Amino acid sequence: MKKVKIFGAGSIGNHLAHGCRQQGWQVTICDIDPDALARTRDDIYPARYGAWDEAIRLSAPEAVADEAFDLVIIGTPPDSHIPIAIDQMQRCPPRVILIEKPLCPPDLAPCAELIRLADETSTRLLVAYNHRLTTHTRLAEAWLQSPGIGQVTTLRAMTREHWGGIFAAHPWLAGPSDSYLGFTAKGGGALAEHSHAINIWQHFADLAGLGRISQVQAMLDEVEQDGAAYDRIAQLSVRTDRGLVGTIVQDVVTQPAQKWLRMEGTEGYLEWQVSIDAQHDLVRLVRHDGETLEEKVKKTRPDDFRGEIEHIGDLLDKPDLASPLDLEAGLDTMRVVVAAIDSSRKGRLVEVDRSS
Ligand SMILES: NC(=O)c1ccc[n+]([C@@H]2O[C@H](COP(=O)([O-])OP(=O)(O)OC[C@H]3O[C@@H](n4cnc5c(N)ncnc54)[C@H](O)[C@@H]3O)[C@@H](O)[C@H]2O)c1
Repeated sequence: MKKVKIFGAGSIGNHLAHGCRQQGWQVTICDIDPDALARTRDDIYPARYGAWDEAIRLSAPEAVADEAFDLVIIGTPPDSHIPIAIDQMQRCPPRVILIEKPLCPPDLAPCAELIRLADETSTRLLVAYNHRLTTHTRLAEAWLQSPGIGQVTTLRAMTREHWGGIFAAHPWLAGPSDSYLGFTAKGGGALAEHSHAINIWQHFADLAGLGRISQVQAMLDEVEQDGAAYDRIAQLSVRTDRGLVGTIVQDVVTQPAQKWLRMEGTEGYLEWQVSIDAQHDLVRLVRHDGETLEEKVKKTRPDDFRGEIEHIGDLLDKPDLASPLDLEAGLDTMRVVVAAIDSSRKGRLVEVDRSS
């Protein structure tokens, strides 16, 4: 049986613990805050999934620091992701570490040591951009192969979502300044917290062989409010090294949310949407010759993570499998985040730095 340790008994820690238990895996959740462990057992898990699961072990991090696990999941605030991953690989390297998005705050200096240790220990590092592995994304990938949309001319993506929903899922937080969410420098704000849009843009550009984002011209709406300092709107114009030009928009003010991507082609277009309502994702391919494919994919909130967890199960069984979650993809998203901050503050187009 696969043995999993999850750092962070918060919102994502509960989702992923439930997902791993659905696979029949042995789950330990650890958290530095004993209140968070109690809240998981008494409130979050039973409220979301009907009852507490007695098979889940709750622990302080030190008590399980040197125990061997197949998979370690890091579901803590972004500024702790890399330090926890490094410490884990130094003590007792698991086969796979899944690091929640965003990989880190917008300072990529610690990534060098992370990569060095992953090479040394042969630990597979993944970043949890779960939209890459949902049913509707896979359907979109298949339809782009056939019937396709011709030559891709542009790509647009957005994750615009008022963060009232996030705070509703964290009633113990008083507001943005109470967590990393209210600080761009800690990996919060629209750019990093909603970096799903940058990441899915990169995923579809990659699928279509359209290269990596090399230039960014961004405008951020940065606010300082009630002790918090964050970007609430991030608008990016981007160009890849193969010349594809597109746009990416993320914000924490739009309600209801819009999580959308559209790929325009010479023979039609593809539209991809997360949560058109509480129970469906959508994918639609419209060809100019009249052919239309459309599917509303029924889902529950646990389904948002099911593809990701099943995929990790496959990777644990077959370590040579390719993965859309590999570190390089999550790191490339952070490179665009860093470039966007730089571009907006300097008021000009910047090149994406891949020297690190
Ligand atoms: N992929 C998704 O759809 C998705 C959804 C929600 C959150 N997330 C990401 O997951 C991460 C956590 O978000 P959240 O909403 O679950 O946060 P949260 O505040 O609900 O929970 C984080 C928990 O981590 C604990 N923690 C902090 N440092 C720790 C450490 N060193 N060791 C052990 N525990 C520690 C805190 O005490 C807290 O209980 C963020 O990076 C967020 O962006 C991703």
